[in-house]
Amino acid sequence: MSKTPIIILNYKTYTESTGKNAVQLSKYVQEASEESGINMAIAPQAVDLYPIISEVDIPVYSQHMDAITPGGHTGSTLPEAIKETGVTGTLINHSEQRLTIADIDSIVEKTKEMELTSVLCTNNVKTSAAAASFNPDYIAIEPPELIGTGIPVSQANPEIVENTVEEIHKINKEINVLCGAGISTGEDMKAALELGSQGVLLASGIIKADDQKQALLDLVSLI
Ligand code: G3P
Repeated sequence: MSKTPIIILNYKTYTESTGKNAVQLSKYVQEASEESGINMAIAPQAVDLYPIISEVDIPVYSQHMDAITPGGHTGSTLPEAIKETGVTGTLINHSEQRLTIADIDSIVEKTKEMELTSVLCTNNVKTSAAAASFNPDYIAIEPPELIGTGIPVSQANPEIVENTVEEIHKINKEINVLCGAGISTGEDMKAALELGSQGVLLASGIIKADDQKQALLDLVSLI
């Protein structure tokens, strides 16, 4: 993945970022990234990965992969199948898709083996410090109580971002830190970077906006 700052737009399962809407949104993200010169990546649902990767050149992440090996696992998402879509990497352990410690370990190792970028999500400073021991490429700190609220973590709980950066870097300075939850404006983005993060992981503020491309351009207007 390119150097900082970075924006990862998590498509979750919003109607506005599913199926044909997901493909259209991905084109807007690519345009906004090209026009602003800021690195923007996306994390669509697994079923939308391949159609999107066929249409855009920006980095595409999976929202999740299961800690399984090929075989009898009906309804699961096999890491090798995700890799074959052409993704750049994957989110791991998002608040809305929590995993066991053993599964996190296994998936981070699998991403290294498959040369995928790992974005390991955490919910507080302690879990972020623990997450650093797995040596993922990115740790994304997101206080669950602020997710989807429009109340930005960079303003509502700046300490959690600063302390997370500090604790992670005591363990491994190479890990990039993202923050997320409630981020939607240029001020939120600027504050996130001033707190020591290298970028943001965000969703509703852009996906639910009337003009998604303009919302992305506004997000990066102050950096
Ligand atoms: O992964 C991004 C996320 O959980 C934050 O969501 O809607 O608060 O930007 P949102």
